Order: sequence, then C-alpha cells, then structure tokens
Amino acid sequence: MKKILVTGGAGFIGSNFIRYILGEHPEYQVINIDKLTYAGNLENLREVEENPRYVFVRGDILDEELISELLNGKHPATNNQLPNTIINFAAESHVDRSIADPSSFVETNVHGTQVLLDGARKAWKGNNNLFVQVSTDEVYGSLGSTGYFTEDTPLAPNSPYSASKAGGDLMVKAYWETYKLPCIITRCSNNYGHYQFPEKLIPLMITNVIEGKPLPVYGDGQNVRDWIHVEDHCRGIDLILSKGNAGEVYNIGGNNEWKNIDIVRLITGKMEDILGLKKGSLASLIKFVKDRPGHDRRYAIDSSKIIKDLDWKPLYSFEKGIEETIRWYLSSKEWWEGIKRGEYMQYYERNYLKR
Ligand code: NAD
Ligand code: DAU
Repeated sequence: MKKILVTGGAGFIGSNFIRYILGEHPEYQVINIDKLTYAGNLENLREVEENPRYVFVRGDILDEELISELLNGKHPATNNQLPNTIINFAAESHVDRSIADPSSFVETNVHGTQVLLDGARKAWKGNNNLFVQVSTDEVYGSLGSTGYFTEDTPLAPNSPYSASKAGGDLMVKAYWETYKLPCIITRCSNNYGHYQFPEKLIPLMITNVIEGKPLPVYGDGQNVRDWIHVEDHCRGIDLILSKGNAGEVYNIGGNNEWKNIDIVRLITGKMEDILGLKKGSLASLIKFVKDRPGHDRRYAIDSSKIIKDLDWKPLYSFEKGIEETIRWYLSSKEWWEGIKRGEYMQYYERNYLKR
C-alpha cells in the first residue's frame, strides 16, 4: 500500500497526476499539500475531492513543522499513518515570471525541496520509502540544432527558473549520496493537456484565439521544444514509483520536437477547422514580439533509459492530443476565464503590453 504525499497537487501536472493515480491504483492514498499560489486551483481536483482516499491540506513546503507533522503521522490528514512516498511537484514553474522576480523560485524550488528532504530524512526509518523529485529538461541548458539530453548531460541551466530547479536536483542528489535517502529525479520535457495554466505557450495561444487577442511569438519563433501529453508524463512517474531504482535520474520526453511558430500555426489551423472559419483567417493574430532574455534555443530529450529499463513509452499522438486539448479549452471557458480575470491581468500587462 502506498500513502503518497503529493506536493503542488493543485497545479497543472500535480492535479493530472492525482486524478490518474487514484484511478489506476485503488489501493493508493494521496495527501495533497499545496500553498495555492496563483497557479494552484482546487477546481482542477473537483473530480476527486469526495474520494475517501484523497485529502487536501493547504500549506507551504517551506513550513518545517507542517511537513514534520505530515511525515510523522501527527497531522489529522494522515489518519495516524505515515506517508511512505513523496512526489514533489510543488514549484514556481514559469520562466518569464522567474526573469521578472527570481527570489520566490529559489525559496520554493531549492529551499522548499530541502525542507521536504530533511523532513523525510528525519521521519523515515524503515524500508519502502521513496522521494521523487519532479524536475525538468531545462536543467540541462540549451541544445544546438542536433543532439539530445541524456541523464549524463551536465547541468547547465540558463534562466533563474532552471537554475533553481537544478539547485533542487543537486539537493536531492546530496541527500541520496550523504544520507542514502531513497530518491529518484525525473526530468521531463514540455507538457501540454487539460488544466494547464494559460500563461504557458499552448493554452495561452488557444485561449487568446478564442478571445480574439494577439498571439505573441517570442523572437524569431524558431526555438524548439519537445512536447509530451501530461498523461504520458504521469504514467512515467507511476512506473517510476513501482519499478524505478533509488539514486537514478530518468528523462521523460515526447520525441516530438516543434518550432514555436509551427505550434502556433498548427493551433490556428486546427481552430479554424473546429470553429468552421475560413482557412488562414486566424494568421493575422500572430505577432512576433521581443525575445525572452536568455531564451534557450532547443530542448530534446533522449528517453531511451526509461523506455528500456521501465518499459515506458508515450501513448498520445500529438495530432490527437493537441486537438483534444483545444476542444477541452473550448468547453472549459469558465475555468480559464476565471483565471484570466484575476492576478493574471497584471502579469499579462507586465509581460506583454510593453514588449
Ligand atoms: P504549476 O505552476 O502549474 O503548479 C505548481 C503548483 O505548486 C501550484 O499548485 C502551486 O500552488 C504549488 N506551489 C508553489 N509553491 C508552493 C509552495 N511553496 N508550497 C506548496 N505548494 C506550492 O506547475 P506544473 O506545470 O504543474 O509543474 C509541476 C512540476 O513539474 C514543477 O516542479 C515543474 O518544474 C515540473 N515540470 C513542469 C513541466 C511543464 O511543462 N509544465 C515540465 C517538466 C517539469
Ligand atoms: O521543458 C520543460 C519546461 O517547459 C518546464 O520545466 C517549465 O515549467 C514549463 O513552463 C516549460 O518551459 P518553457 O519556457 O519551455 O515553456 P513556455 O510555455 O513558457 O514556452 C514555450 C516556448 O514558447 C518557449 O520557447 C517560449 C515560447 N513562448 C512562450 C510564451 C508564453 C512564446 O513564443 N510566446 C509566449 O507568449
């Protein structure tokens, strides 16, 4: 039986993971601790909020006392049972926000990770424990037009976001090497799917089309990302829980490289079809804007280790996944319109209007 402490479970990937894991494993229990920053949203978890195997605790991963209570079965949410697994999704996750204000990234992504590791080190005495650090391909830096990131690629982060994630990863490595705390790091490429916050490229473009707003493409639009459906990422983490080896790093990627401008054109083309608009009619919304400082040129993941060792492979075709995602945003206006009315407006003005 796994009693899992999920951190950051009200965000995009964490909420998809909670729905996925409760559905796949009738014996797993989940405690979700989330600070509910601008990116955390309990609406993402409506489907599971009544599930007796799920409980939510609002809290900060920097809160040592709360983490200790949760890991030692002293918090009411634990029902006196000790969580034996931690999956750390909690993070400040958006590169543009890290450029504007790096400090919260260091706090949550480095210090917060260390607080969780230390809580686990003190609480976990026996076997069958595991700390999973959900990291990112961005810690490897930027690629030229050829080559792939493997698990042995040296860390070379370029943004405050990726530097803070690399800092968290190094802390995880240190707890494994020094204390033999059983830890695994996953490094995934760009996710897309339901409930992604509309500051990220794909949901921003889809929702801006619906609102008739410009589609801001940074720089020359030739930067490349390797897109993976969030459910394929969640399945990878699930396999790591049951079959992964402590001390290892596993890359997870979609083997699906796209230039940003091509993604934007794919989205406008698909939306013209879905909405019955004239072919090419949405193209005039595309606007090239000032580039992101330090913008990594290309990410591409070599996933052969997780494919070979854990028998993982992505199941979603991008064609199917992107269409389903567009349809989800079209039918979930209430969800994202609420978000776009709040703090988001100020962020949008800061990031785009003076660009
Ligand atoms: P997100 O921004 O949608 O969600 C982050 C969640 O963490 C939010 O619910 C937020 O409230 C919570 N949180 C932030 N600070 C916290 C704190 N101090 N204490 C408790 N909770 C806190 O992010 P996401 O896109 O779901 O990413 C989840 C994880 O996956 C992150 O660690 C990110 O680095 C990693 N990752 C993301 C992608 C991607 O494409 N989105 C790809 C690879 C890895
Ligand atoms: O690679 C994994 C990472 O992917 C995760 O670790 C991060 O948490 C996640 O935010 C994502 O980072 P990116 O910076 O790659 O994602 P973003 O959606 O912000 O941007 C994707 C690409 O699109 C990037 O090259 C910048 C570009 N872009 C983005 C936005 C928001 C634009 O051209 N215009 C935009 O408005």
